[in-house]
Amino acid sequence: MNQCLSLHVDADGVALVTIDVVGRPMNVLTPTFHAELDTALEQIKNDPAVRGAVFASAKADFMAGADLKWILSSVSSIKTREQAWAFAAPLNALFRKLETLGKPMVAALNGTALGGGLELALACHYRVAAANPATRLGLPEVLVGLLPGAGGTQRLPRMIGIREALLLLVEGTHLTVEQALAQKIIDRIVPAEDLIETAKRYVLEGGRASNPWDEKHFKVPGGAGGLHAGVAQTFMGGTALVSKRTLHNYPAPIAILSAVYEGTQLPIEMGLQIESTYLGTLLLDPVARNMIRTLFVNKGAADKGARRPVGVPKQAVKTLGVLGAGMMGAGIAYVSARAGMGVMLLDTTAEKAQHGRAYSEKLLAKEVARGQQNDASAQRVLSRIEPTTDFASLMGCDLIVEAVFEDRALKAAVTRQTEAVIPSATVFASNTSTLPITGLAEASSRPQQFIGIHFFSPVEKMPLVEIIVGQHTDEATLARAIDYVIQIKKTPIVVNDSRGFYTSRVFGTFTNEGMTLLGEGVKPALIENAAKMAGLPVGPLAVLDEVTVELAYHVTQQAQLALGAAYTPASGWPVMRKMVEDLKRLGKRHGQGFYEYPADARKRLWPGLAEHFPVALAQPDVAEVKTRLLYIQALETARCMEEGVLTDPIDGDLGSILGWGFPAWTGGTLSFIDTVGIAAFVTECERLALAYGPRFQPSAALKARAARGEGYY
Ligand code: NAI
Repeated sequence: MNQCLSLHVDADGVALVTIDVVGRPMNVLTPTFHAELDTALEQIKNDPAVRGAVFASAKADFMAGADLKWILSSVSSIKTREQAWAFAAPLNALFRKLETLGKPMVAALNGTALGGGLELALACHYRVAAANPATRLGLPEVLVGLLPGAGGTQRLPRMIGIREALLLLVEGTHLTVEQALAQKIIDRIVPAEDLIETAKRYVLEGGRASNPWDEKHFKVPGGAGGLHAGVAQTFMGGTALVSKRTLHNYPAPIAILSAVYEGTQLPIEMGLQIESTYLGTLLLDPVARNMIRTLFVNKGAADKGARRPVGVPKQAVKTLGVLGAGMMGAGIAYVSARAGMGVMLLDTTAEKAQHGRAYSEKLLAKEVARGQQNDASAQRVLSRIEPTTDFASLMGCDLIVEAVFEDRALKAAVTRQTEAVIPSATVFASNTSTLPITGLAEASSRPQQFIGIHFFSPVEKMPLVEIIVGQHTDEATLARAIDYVIQIKKTPIVVNDSRGFYTSRVFGTFTNEGMTLLGEGVKPALIENAAKMAGLPVGPLAVLDEVTVELAYHVTQQAQLALGAAYTPASGWPVMRKMVEDLKRLGKRHGQGFYEYPADARKRLWPGLAEHFPVALAQPDVAEVKTRLLYIQALETARCMEEGVLTDPIDGDLGSILGWGFPAWTGGTLSFIDTVGIAAFVTECERLALAYGPRFQPSAALKARAARGEGYY
């Protein structure tokens, strides 16, 4: 019994190959698919009654790319060039066989075709698509650190020209069927009900059984090769643009440029070999493995509730209560109403509550203007948010998210006021950014139903939510929190209670290292640029300005207060203290911080920094600054694992990339350690500790782990 496709030859001699990968919502390329397609091709070739073939899908979409779980397990085991070649070459051999079979081959695209799915269509001799506005066509492999390895980098430029192809290959852009037709990637659009018939007719009417690039005097449209002025310019511009964007942290776009540049100057057979060679180099590079594992396989699982306690029935939130209609509360109300929930948005005055609702009104108006919503649907979302000042109106809520000022006594008071009216089963969650959950739960009469749901700002844009389990939080409460986060289409991670939880704690080591470097006399521009070159979205000083130096200062003071004698000031404290207490440079919102914010120009590093933090004569190498900024975060994450703040490395990796922008090429803070190699990581930390201070000292447990050679995956 076939697992992936079936073949049926009709009375006219047209073979209909129907793709239907068993047990998968989307058709994906797997080793079984390959084997079955190979068998089908043999049959089509050897049966003289078969005049040609049509490839169609039995599912709503045509085909996604390769099965990423299969790719992940493959890249994890590929260690040599020979192994990489053995994996990559057959991908091309199969579609090449299809292309050169000698009978017309047609792709009947009923819906989306991405990656290997579109490459199958590109190998065919004719492509007809159903008129379907939901269809997306594209080669998004670059987004997972790979290149299209089943002919995409060779057939697409030969079909539409190098410049146009590169735009799609390097960006991983998706096209609608109309766009694909305009770009001549597909040949025809027909009504869905005519799709198969039109495809069959191509075979019956004697459509060509080869592709143009297999003909004698074929030339790549628009030219190829470095001697062609337009092409040379495209590659010069493309390389510069890619380098600027990726800062050489991501090898895939460069490999794509190389495969296209070299391959298009040669016959297709050799071009395909070049493509396989470059795919091989990417398979051997840890970046692809890191990105696929964290951003696709593990993120996908987290989005489906991988961290949900088993055995607790799923429950959707119908009505959410939000306490505090400030910046965070307003955002939480918006994403929840957008997900279909009713929202009671409570603040101290009707005006403030209304102001919180107006935030959604503003965002929805923008969506309408951009055509992402129509007036009626925007109105429906808005009508779900009810501003209120009356705690009694929370009576029907099945989940509460508290987002009042960061003040323990105030949070305790609203907890009591709320619990007096809500049903006994309702879960109470706090969006506190710093106050330990177990402590806040002391104000609750049902601490087992008390949990942290920590959003990031701006709520509507940030993809991560950090769920914090307090000492008394029970499993049903955790399940409810996860269900809610899934409902609003964000990625949940689950961590245990601790000061700063996981994300704020590790993020704090990044900003602290930035201030420490400044205090040591490292040039501010070197600090900021090294961070960006490592792949962080902004430098530590810029991000401190964004969240405000003042806020970081408050958090530090609170920790000092809470910890008493146990508190030891962080290495960056003298810089932070000076900025806040002496210089009153509190951050962007206050108009000045590490940067200055002229009204008529872009922000720039404040020249006065040199006076207060004198620049040292000897400056470190940029690589050393990058190392310090990355290692301190990875090491703190390792400590979170050791202390049980994190119980699963997946949470650490997802949280670091989605929460504060730790570079995606690393796969996250713990994948970074595994990529370096845990033994090498520990040795490097010991060197850093000697050079810069004990914050880099690896613990005995980490050293023991390294000695055992035990990474995180
Ligand atoms: P905010 O100051 O913008 O909003 C707080 C709101 O709570 C105000 O509208 C205030 O009127 C209201 N409020 C005060 N007392 C109240 C009461 N008794 N009953 C009802 N409402 C009351 O503050 P923001 O930034 O929205 O922060 C709220 C919470 O979220 C804090 O705990 C904060 O630590 C946390 N948080 C903040 C993040 C941020 O980036 N701003 C990120 C993650 C968490």
